Amino acid sequence: MTTTGMKIKETSGLLSGKSAVIYGAGGGIGGAVALAFALEGARVFLAGHKLVSVETLAEKIKSAGGWAEPAELDALDEQSVDRHLQSVIDKAGRVDISFNAVGIPDDKILGVPLAEMDAKLFSLPITTYTMSYFLTARLAARRMIPNKSGVIMTVTSLLGRAPGPLLGGYGPAMAAKEALTRELSAELASHGIRVVGLRPQAMPETPTIKKAFEPRAKAYGMSWEQWQERLASRTHSRRLMTLEEMANVAVFMASDKASGMTGTTINLTMGSLDD
Ligand SMILES: NC(=O)c1ccc[n+]([C@@H]2O[C@H](COP(=O)([O-])OP(=O)(O)OC[C@H]3O[C@@H](n4cnc5c(N)ncnc54)[C@H](OP(=O)(O)O)[C@@H]3O)[C@@H](O)[C@H]2O)c1
Repeated sequence: MTTTGMKIKETSGLLSGKSAVIYGAGGGIGGAVALAFALEGARVFLAGHKLVSVETLAEKIKSAGGWAEPAELDALDEQSVDRHLQSVIDKAGRVDISFNAVGIPDDKILGVPLAEMDAKLFSLPITTYTMSYFLTARLAARRMIPNKSGVIMTVTSLLGRAPGPLLGGYGPAMAAKEALTRELSAELASHGIRVVGLRPQAMPETPTIKKAFEPRAKAYGMSWEQWQERLASRTHSRRLMTLEEMANVAVFMASDKASGMTGTTINLTMGSLDD
């Protein structure tokens, strides 16, 4: 997480008056997005898998002059998500932004060739990622429809559009989330709700990327440093994106400045992936 030392009064307040729920806020991407939203004036409801992971972030946001409330929930449990959203409505009166940044451990999946993979393990990321996104989006939409406004967001990966070996069902899961973004938008846009995704490549400052590389290191015959260089060499800028850069795009996409964008996943691969 970045934007260290920044104070809410130093930003342009692009999200002032909005309330946002971030699922997976205890993680690298969810945490960075939550901080960026709060610094732009949003009231952020931090939904973490474990309370402790979001309590520290809430304190950081408050000390920067922002508003945050941590909560523990399982983003795969419909009742748990629904109860939490109701508490958001009770406190803030509305939910304007729903951001799903949930990520599951991949240690049993990564490094296993598809030809040898157990069918249940193959389907695990596909069912988990799509179900969590579906549940959180659907329950947010039900609260947004009466207001005729809202933004539903998520994060996918370059691997939803380009192949990567030894990743099991991860790529298909990301592709399915991008399809769901389009479907949700097609149904919800007439209710004033935008649905957009972010498709970053790899941000090595997040532990996720090193954890995803390690089980495949032997197959690739590369060190961690060589792997990062290889990914960076495929971008036009010859470097990988930072979390802060990704979160800045998330702020714009969540704001009314992006009112013309829906039904799309923004390519944040810095040229690695052609549109
Ligand atoms: N990091 C990158 O550079 C990058 C790039 C492209 C795409 N992505 C994708 O973006 C997503 C987030 O990545 P990340 O790096 O932020 O991962 P992360 O640091 O592992 O964060 C994911 C968060 O989701 C939480 N979570 C897992 N299951 C949950 C559940 N059922 N209910 C509520 N929260 C749950 C995790 O909590 P626990 O750990 O407590 O379970 C964790 O805090 C993943 O899908 C990842 O593949 C990441």
